[in-house]
Amino acid sequence: MENKKKDYLTSLLSWADDVEGKINTIKLEKEDLSDWLNKFNDWKLLVEEKKESDDEITDESIEDLQIKSEKLLNSLTELLNKPRQADETLKPGNHKLPPLPYAYDALEPYISKKIMQLHHDKHHQSYVDGLNKAEKELYKSSPDDKLIKHWMREQAFNGSGHYLHTIFWENMSPKGGGLPDGILLSKLKKDFGSFEKFQTLFSKAAESVEGVGWAILLWEPRAARLGVQTVEKHQMFSLWDTVPLLVLDVWEHAYYLQYENKRAEYIQNWWEIVNWKNVKQRLEKAQKLQWPLY
Ligand SMILES: [Fe+2]
Repeated sequence: MENKKKDYLTSLLSWADDVEGKINTIKLEKEDLSDWLNKFNDWKLLVEEKKESDDEITDESIEDLQIKSEKLLNSLTELLNKPRQADETLKPGNHKLPPLPYAYDALEPYISKKIMQLHHDKHHQSYVDGLNKAEKELYKSSPDDKLIKHWMREQAFNGSGHYLHTIFWENMSPKGGGLPDGILLSKLKKDFGSFEKFQTLFSKAAESVEGVGWAILLWEPRAARLGVQTVEKHQMFSLWDTVPLLVLDVWEHAYYLQYENKRAEYIQNWWEIVNWKNVKQRLEKAQKLQWPLY
């Protein structure tokens, strides 16, 4: 038990390293960030002390560290959601891997730590690298005419991979599962008949993906309603001009180490960690896109 707690503290520290590694790549006002970083460093020190100490680690102290880490994460999310400068852009080839918004083992038992480490640090990183490479080739002053098709394919594959995974991490939470509420629940009921009907369609769609791909709940501004669409790889079967709200990765790298060929079991368990709060926020923002309905 004590070893398990030490392991948990180690995973909190590796999450902290990950956040720290990425934080300096995020554009924020220096004052805002320094205040947050002070609190973050205090918390990290507490975890380190607890880990090194020979005293017994109580359940209360673990819970206290968990609550503090959630507060830190919430305040960082608030900082990141501050309105951007209107003219702010990301130059081609400058995409970065976003930090995982929780520890690698936070989604256990539904998704194992090993899967999360490989999935985030290796797979997602490779999409970021691939997208940056493609953008640098496509948007340089004299791109190679003969390779345009190749780099377009690379941009679509890696770019969709990067953007979908970025949504996917936020779409899940150790405190997820249950039912959505508010506008999201009422829209799901209105557009699918009931929450259960939506959930069944989404799960069956995820099971139906041939080979590797995604199931996606999306907002269709041209119809002002919700829909479900699957994608093969990251970019085939795409439904363009829509806004993804909830995405489920059904590539084998997302579940095989833990579930082997039982994709349906992975999908069924995955509902326990869906972060409905995040999905609702995405819907509220997406609904602000008000286009003529056709
Ligand atoms: Fe993936």
